[in-house]
Amino acid sequence: MRTVSWDPSGPAVRMIDQRLLPAEFKTIFLKTPFEVAQAIQDMVVRGAPAIGASAAFGLALAAVRTRTLDVESLWQELETAASTLRAARPTAVNLNWALDRLLRATHSFKGKGVEAIQECLVAEAQRLADEDVQINRRMAEHGAALIEDGATVIHHCNTGALATVDFGTALGVIRMAHEQGKRVHVLVDETRPRLQGARLTAWELDQYGIPHEIICDGAAGHFLRSGNVDAAFVGADRVAANGDVANKIGTYMLALAANDNEVPLYSVVPTSTIDLELTSGDQIPIEERDPGEVLGLEREGQPIAPQGSKARNPAFDITPHRLVTAFVTETGVLRPPYKANLKRAVQEAQGK
Ligand code: MRU
Repeated sequence: MRTVSWDPSGPAVRMIDQRLLPAEFKTIFLKTPFEVAQAIQDMVVRGAPAIGASAAFGLALAAVRTRTLDVESLWQELETAASTLRAARPTAVNLNWALDRLLRATHSFKGKGVEAIQECLVAEAQRLADEDVQINRRMAEHGAALIEDGATVIHHCNTGALATVDFGTALGVIRMAHEQGKRVHVLVDETRPRLQGARLTAWELDQYGIPHEIICDGAAGHFLRSGNVDAAFVGADRVAANGDVANKIGTYMLALAANDNEVPLYSVVPTSTIDLELTSGDQIPIEERDPGEVLGLEREGQPIAPQGSKARNPAFDITPHRLVTAFVTETGVLRPPYKANLKRAVQEAQGK
């Protein structure tokens, strides 16, 4: 089942409620773009490509649920919905990328009436979601060549089917290597504070039958130093033009430890995650979330710190490009110099 999809009978956006996993598998149906924005903010759906596809379907919802028959008023409603969706989470560039793509697609339909715009937006959101799955499979094929039979790899956060429309980015690479018959063992960073590794990645690996062990984030350095880890695989929420990577908090420390022990670190990203407008990672906005996520265990709401403790909760960090061994995109495996090679990959993906 896809992480996020369009339900024409609603019409609604259907998504797996990731907050409940692994205890409960439940899907929910959202009827307005504002509900979709809230779901993105609350991390019902998360992971850069899944956020992008959700926003796209959210904008399509705004169009099909409108009561107006006037193109100009519809356009204003779409702009309002788009800015609410854009504000849901700041770091993953796929959100802006998806909304810009949908709005661009409607331009030639503006003179053709409300119904034409509605059909265009639903079709474009559907296309974007379908392409996400194809792109992930292409990345997985390129990336699987980096994994040898018998390898042990470290993985951070959740980058699997749940973080995308389906199949996944970094976890997709691991899954493809497994499907090709290679024996792969995965050390799963638990990924504090939201535990995407322990809750979601371990759940997915279990479904695919891939052997794995969950480790505390702080244990990664220990395992990397042991000499028994062959590679680290991560995704990205935004990659700047110079190759600096914004990804789940803890990626930078993982990359430092990998680098110190000469273990390659690969970032698996669709070209939609590359932001050529930003020259370096310093310009990437880093989301700071509720300190309560750090001070208490999720769902149970159980405090793990003295009452009144203060906390900081940056959701992402920046890994400098010098610590990234290579990127895997749908166009292939990219190595330095990143400035030229990332630009070329984006142009190639856009058919330029
Ligand atoms: O806060 P999250 O769970 O949305 O963060 C997700 C990540 O950091 C992933 O590594 C990234 O989005 C790439 S997933 C394909």
